[in-house]
Order: sequence, then C-alpha cells, then structure tokens
Amino acid sequence: MRAFALSVLAFASLSALGVKQEDFKLCHQSSFCRRLRSIGSRQAEAAPGTFESPYSLGDPSSTLNVNKDASSWTWPLSSSLYPEISFELRVDVLAQGDGIVRLRVDEVGSKTPFKRYNETAKWALINPQPPLSTSSKLSHKAGKSIITYGPSTAKLSIEITHKPFKIAQLRNGKPEIVLNDRSLFHMEHFRIKDVEKTEEILSEGEQVVLKGGEMDRSWFEESDGEMFEERFKKWTDSKPKGPEGLSIDLTFPGVEHIYGLPEHASPLSLPATIGSDAHYTEPYRLFNVDIFEYLADSPMSLYGIIPILHAHSPTSSVGVLNLVASETWVDVLHDKNGVKTHWMSESGILDLLLLPGPEPQQLFEQNAILTGTTSLPPQWSTAYHQCRWNYVDEDDVLEVQRKFDEADIPLDVTWLDIEYAEEHRYFDWDPKVFPSPVKMLDEVTSKGRKVSVCICSCRWTLMQPTQMVAIVDPHIKKTDSFRIYTDARDLDILMKKADGTNFEGWCWTGSSVWVDFFNPKSWDWWTKMFDFKVWKESTPGLFIWNDMNEPSVFDGPEITVPKDTIHYGGWENRDIHNLNGMMFHNQTSQALIARETPAKRPFVLSRSFYTGSQRFGAIWTGDNIGDWDHLAGETAMLLSNNIGGMSFCGADVGGFFGNPSHELLVRWYQAGAFMPFFRAHAHIDTKRREPYLFEEPIRGYLRDAVRLRYQMLPVWYNAFHDASVSGAPIIRPQYAVFPKDAAGFGIDDQYYVGDSGLLIKPVTTQGAVQTEVYLSDNQPYYDYFTHKLYAASAKPRTVTLDTPLSTFPVLLQGGSIIPIRQRVRRSSPLMWQDPFTLIVALSKDGSASGQLYLDDGDSYGYQNGEYIWREFTFTPSSSSSSKGKGGSLVSSDKSSNTSEASKDVTPYDENNLWAKAIGHVRIEKIVLWGVGTKPSSVKVSGEDVEWTYEAGVGASSSKAGEAGMLVVKNPGVGVVGAWEVVVD
Ligand SMILES: *[C@@H]1O[C@H](CO)[C@@H](O)[C@H](O)[C@H]1NC(C)=O
Ligand SMILES: *[C@@H]1O[C@H](CO)[C@@H](O)[C@H](O)[C@H]1NC(C)=O
Repeated sequence: MRAFALSVLAFASLSALGVKQEDFKLCHQSSFCRRLRSIGSRQAEAAPGTFESPYSLGDPSSTLNVNKDASSWTWPLSSSLYPEISFELRVDVLAQGDGIVRLRVDEVGSKTPFKRYNETAKWALINPQPPLSTSSKLSHKAGKSIITYGPSTAKLSIEITHKPFKIAQLRNGKPEIVLNDRSLFHMEHFRIKDVEKTEEILSEGEQVVLKGGEMDRSWFEESDGEMFEERFKKWTDSKPKGPEGLSIDLTFPGVEHIYGLPEHASPLSLPATIGSDAHYTEPYRLFNVDIFEYLADSPMSLYGIIPILHAHSPTSSVGVLNLVASETWVDVLHDKNGVKTHWMSESGILDLLLLPGPEPQQLFEQNAILTGTTSLPPQWSTAYHQCRWNYVDEDDVLEVQRKFDEADIPLDVTWLDIEYAEEHRYFDWDPKVFPSPVKMLDEVTSKGRKVSVCICSCRWTLMQPTQMVAIVDPHIKKTDSFRIYTDARDLDILMKKADGTNFEGWCWTGSSVWVDFFNPKSWDWWTKMFDFKVWKESTPGLFIWNDMNEPSVFDGPEITVPKDTIHYGGWENRDIHNLNGMMFHNQTSQALIARETPAKRPFVLSRSFYTGSQRFGAIWTGDNIGDWDHLAGETAMLLSNNIGGMSFCGADVGGFFGNPSHELLVRWYQAGAFMPFFRAHAHIDTKRREPYLFEEPIRGYLRDAVRLRYQMLPVWYNAFHDASVSGAPIIRPQYAVFPKDAAGFGIDDQYYVGDSGLLIKPVTTQGAVQTEVYLSDNQPYYDYFTHKLYAASAKPRTVTLDTPLSTFPVLLQGGSIIPIRQRVRRSSPLMWQDPFTLIVALSKDGSASGQLYLDDGDSYGYQNGEYIWREFTFTPSSSSSSKGKGGSLVSSDKSSNTSEASKDVTPYDENNLWAKAIGHVRIEKIVLWGVGTKPSSVKVSGEDVEWTYEAGVGASSSKAGEAGMLVVKNPGVGVVGAWEVVVD
C-alpha cells in the first residue's frame, strides 16, 4: 500500500490516473538488457546459418563425473571470443520428480576477485542440493553427450551438443526444451575496469575475426560506456564488479502456448514481445518494485516474481524454473515452430531446472518437490478479511465489527494499515488513537463470546472467533527513541551502502533504515520482537502484514534500494534483489510460529515474493485500481500465481484506488468470494465502502457474495489442503484441467476451484446481463444457484447464462461432490460444529466423487494425525432394474488411499483428538442433482430415511433443463466414520 502522490489524487479524476512509467526502466535503460537484447536482434537479422554460438564444451574426454555414484557431470565451457576465460557446465539428474534435470553454468578460475551469486537455490529450494538420480546413463555419440534418464516409460534424454554449445531435452526422441537453439547464450566474464580499457584500445581497428568472417566480438559484446557505471535519472549505479550479464535462450518446439513468469498484469498465455505478432514492445520484466497504479495490461514488473514457465501443447507439457534473483527480462517470440524465449539477467550463475511434466499436474508436483508447497494456513484466513487504510481509532474498529454483525455479514479478520503506528514506527501503537490496544484486540478477537471451549480430554481449544492483522513494514524510522532502530543498529544488521555505512532512505517513516534479512543475526532478533513479553501490546489474535518489502524506498532508483547496496556476505542488492521480499516474509512467519507453545499456524501477508514464498504465507496483487479493466485482469494474474505455486493470493476487492460504482463493487465481491485470499481494501482517499454501508439491493448482493464464501469454506479448505500436500493450484486454469483441449488453452477468465468441480467465471464487464462460459468436457454442468443442467456433449461448447447483478456463473461439473455448510455464522471458527450438506452432482453415467478434509484449523495437530479426511463416492446401481435411478453414496477414509506425492501424510487414526472433538458433527442433508426418475426408497443401514424428489432432467439427458433433484434429509450420518446411503 502506498500513495506517493496524494496531492495528485486529490486533483485528478480516476481515468487520468496511471502508473508513472518514467519512474521505471525500459530494457534499453539497463545497460545489460540493452547489450543482451541486441544479441537477439542481431541473431534475428542475420542470414540463416551465419549466426553461430561462440561457446563450445570440451570434448567427451573432458567429462568429469562429479559424484561417482550419481548422475552428475561437468564439462569445461569456453567462448571463442575470450578463449582465456573458463566456464563450467554441470548437469545433474535429480532423484525425485520423474527426471528433473538441473543445469548450472558458472565462470571458473577468474583472475578477478569477483564471483557470481550462486545462492538463489539456497533460499528458493527446500533442499538446495536435491538428491541425485543413480540410474541415468551417459553415452557419447558423434560430438554429442547423451544422458538417458527418468522412469522407463517416459523415454527422456538430454542431448548435449559440444560445438556449438546446445542442450536439448527430448521425450521419445523429440526435443521439447532446447537451450541455446538460437545461439543467444552468453555469460559476460568478470574483468578489471582499467585492464579492459587497455584491451579495448589495443584491439581498436583489429576486431577478433571468427570463422567465416561473419561474426566479430561486437555481435556479443556491444561496446558500452555503461559497463562499469551507469546512470538512471538522477542516480548513479557504481557497479564495482563491472558487467556480469547472462543471456540464455530457451526454445519450446511445437507449442503455441507458454504460461507463467508471474507477476505481470498480462494474459495467462503469454503474448509475444518480439516478432510480427508482438503484443508488447518491451520484454517481460522480472524486478520486484513498488509500482503505483499499475497498468491493467503490461509486461512491466510488479511486486513479486516466480521465474517459472510452462510450455504446453495437447501432447505434452514441460516446464523450466530459472533460479536467478537479479533483474531479468524475458523476450517471447511465437513462430510456426514453437515458442522461443530469451532471458536476460544482470548477474548470477545459470541454475536452471528442466521439469519433464508430461502434464500440467506433474509440473505442479515437480515444482513443489523443488520449492515446497503452500503451507496449510489457519482456516480463518481463508474466510473474509476487511481492510482499509485506515480504521482510524479503536472505536472505528469496534464499530466496523458491530456493523458487520448488525448487517448479518460474516467477518473473520479486521485489518490495520500503517496509521495504527505512532509516526509509522511499526510495533508502537499510536496512543492518541489506539490507547488500549490489548483491550481492543481482546474485544475484537472474542467479540464478547467465550473464547476457550474445552472438549473431551481438554487439550483442544477453539480458536478465537475473529482475528486482527496489523502491518509491519520493513522500513525502520531512524530515531534513537525507537528500540527497533537502536537494536538493529547495535546488532549491525542493517543494509549497507557501497561505502560500508548504513543505507538510509525515505519512506512512510521519513528517514529510514532497512534490516538485511539475509544476515542470520537478524533472525533470532526479529523473532524476539514478536514475543508477547517483548511486544507487550500484541496478543495471540494479532497477525501480520508485510508490505513494502521489495523494498520500497521513496527516494531510491525505481522506488527501491540502489543496486550497489550491500547485503550479508558482501553480495550486492543487484544479485539478490528479487529474493528480498521472501526473506522478510519468512522471518515474520517464523516469528509468529515461535511466539506460542504449542505453535499456531502463522498468517503473514506479503506484497513481494519469489518462488518458494508459498511456504511462508499469502500475497496479494498490490495497488490495483477500482476500474473494470483491473477487475478483469485480476483473474489471469491470480491464475498465473497459482500455476507458479503461489496459490494463496488475492486482489484488493473493490480496487485499492478510486471509488468503484455500486455495480463494479458487487462484481468485485462476487469475484473476490472465489479468490483464494478474499480481502476488501481501500486507499485512504476513497469513500468508505464497507458492505453494510450500502442500501438494498446492493448490500444484499454484497452480503450474498460473502455468505457464499462462508458456505463454501469446506471446499476452499479441501483445496488449500491439496495444495499443501501436492502443490496442486488452489484455482486452476482451463489448460491445467483439460490439458488436451487446445480450444481452452487461451482461456484465462474462468477457472476451477481445486478438484471440487466448481467452475467460476467472474463477470467483469459493465452492464453484462448474460455471460458465456466455456465447457470443455463431456459432462453435464449444473448451475449452482438455479440447478439448471447444461447437457453433456462430446464436443466442447459455450453456454450462455443470465447474469443480472444478483448473480454470476458458478457451475458444478457433473461427477463432483462438494461439502458445504448452509448455516453461516458471524465468523468461520464459530461454525466448527455446524452440520454439513453434501451436494452430489451426478456425471452422465450417474457417478460422482468428492472429499472433505477437516482439522482444528489453527494448530499443527494435523501433523500428528489430528484430522479427518473423507472420500465420498456415489456409484450407480449396476442392477438393470434400477438402472438410471439408484446407487449408493459411501463415505470412506481418504488418508489411507493417498497418492505418491502425499505419502508424508500421517496415517489416519480414527480415534484422534480432532475426530473425537467433531464426532457429533452431522451431515444434515444430501442433495443429488441430475436424478432423472423418482427413487422408490432411500436407506441408511437398512432403515428408511426421509427424502423428497423434484422432477427434472437426469444427468444423462441430452437436453438442458431443470435438473431432477433428490433431497435426503437427516440421513443420520456424521462427518466422521464410514457409512453408506442406498438409493433404490
Ligand atoms: C558458490 O561458489 C563458491 C565459490 O565460488 C563455492 O565455494 C560455493 O560452494 C558455491 N555455493 C553453492 C551453493 O553452490
Ligand atoms: C527461513 O528462516 C529460517 C530461520 O528463521 C531459515 O533457517 C531459513 O533458511 C529461511 N528461509 C528463507 C527462504 O528465508
């Protein structure tokens, strides 16, 4: 959250607002990007066959098996442009993930004191040295080294061409990922400034002529006056290590779609940045920045980065994860042979992981094996959050609570932005407006209800009904009266300027300093700051928001720290810039885990992130604008984050800037109710827009959206649990669910929630009274609200739904069973013992399945087996007499039948504490959609139970119509334990 231009806002109308593009670099304003991108343009202009990579590997006799027992080899790599400089290629085949290959290149034996940053993997990967495969084989053939690996069924190989240097990953002999296909690989070597100058003078007029006389050194190293120092606006970057750019090209033959590289406000399927069909003129930029009023369609950098790409076709999916943390730009070219990408990074080694797929689902698992899964968050954080910059004082906070209750709109979490803190000294409540924070926190988090509920053995206590989140930003006010500042200064853990003194900059607090969270000394200290004995004005109901952690520095180049700022270990911010936000996010999460015994799950919202941040909490898409374009753009952004593993994400509901119309606000709440992170937030200059403030029918529409979220919280918790186990995205784009349906590959405005079968399409156009939804598979779909059945069809089709402002497309795919809670209370923890309804949406052959995962919602007890995980299966009756109507619904234990990826789950013990605590929780209703004929009986354990039937079309119908519906009331079964309901 940031509003640098408060005064501008006061005068400008919303439509006149927009990013100050000139604050941020274009590629040609970063000297490395200018140099490296020009390699690409020279290659594109060169006559075929004349542009050749100057890089080659040593011959096969130079192969070194790094680890005799494992699949890891190195080769010397050199460039004919600089034969005296040595590089090294290392190729590892990993043991896990069906054949993930890791490629590393670094300069070796440099005569300079410099080295490339090689620790990105240390922070991004759960294990920076993942175990190696022992079963791959290396052979040599005709100037190539060939590694065969992976499961025998996959037929994977890596083909390394020694001269010119090129590496391809093949499946069944067909290349799927090619490194250096276009000969753009280039690693600028380290050099000493003055030596370089003499060389340049000496070689003037006698360029190094290469074979064929076509290429010279300038093709790869344009002479550039900014190699050792560069300027941007009023800032000078001292660049003490000189040029160390890295250029690589990755080609994906035979694909039309690539996805990934979050976070950009761009379509999910990434459009071209070069070539005749280029949608953008600049490459996608990966450099975490605080961007003010970002554009709704742009390759500009935003706050977080996940350097992952999926290349997808109906026959196969592969991925790459490029572990680089310096400023990086990526050009995308679509041509008839596939998609070609050119990655240009300022510094760092090449550390590239090739993910073999072969389908999106395996890519998600492979990414999770490397970077970890979304941590299972506290259950309440999946409910509704109300934020504003700012709730001004204690009374305001309590009044918001009360008004929500009065309007019958549930609310779990109330947020405080920067104004709670005196002079923006985070941790210190402003006594003028928050004189008794602990009392207020207690009041909010208990809402006058009893907090602790003792169950059975008295070990389990109900979490607080509602929580608060307060902001703690990384900028620290530089004043001796602030303990955080004096501590950090005395511990010597602050970011340093190039001259070794503490870096100072301007932020909300005025003159500020920043802790260097790469320094391990900062870790215990930061943890201590959240100890209840140290931060006495905090309580277990208070959670944390880490904003501005790119970091944002108002008077810095591109609103961040200068690149020559020094971090722990002597690394420059240049090298680690994109990791910075994750380091801070992690430490705050660790601190919340440490503050209670036994530990509670932390909740920390971060703005900046990197691959791996999913382990530490949620993110949101930053300072969006309350207009239709931004609402429309959010879906693709959230999907992109989800396929990158950063599943727990959302957008400011309503838009941070501006005053959305009533219609737009309703549409935003409807969309928000289906974002993994659901928080309303607004800028300090906007009109108040808490949902209770509106007249009917607007208030009712907003209430409906929030209540729908609460009814579906079990579906969301299932999806969060799946994400935490296997890395599966919480919301899933069309191509990931139907990887063979090419017509769906470009769709990024509708999505599925976990594996629930719920298909959502937010309405994002003004005045829309109808909305089209694309259905890919041969199944009926049911309108969640009207129960209208859209018939199965062998061909993908588009259906049109009426979507007046009161409603929007929520469809349930035939074959799904979802657990919901129809009764909604004031906050989600209060619903813990409320009964469930199962909605069984029959597939065209009359079957369905689904799941229900439950645990206490805020402790780590689930890691000791304190959970229930049920699988529901409806199987149609096989006897011919009852064909088409009967069947049986069975509840069984799902934890005993988990897949490979989730084998770490503790075995289920039906007597676990949590199962006992909810032993009395009932299934109060079972609703079957698509029942075409009236049943004759419904029985549980041989006993008749009460049911009603509404006639309508059956699941196998070829025509649309109101679905036939069977409602079983009070079947007398619970959420715990096995049972069977038989329909005849
Ligand atoms: C990084 O490089 C240094 C030497 O250049 C080496 O000692 C160290 O082991 C490397 N670290 C990793 C994580 O590869
Ligand atoms: C997270 O913090 C812990 C210690 O608090 C540290 O061991 C770990 O390396 C950190 N990871 C990242 C990605 O910062």
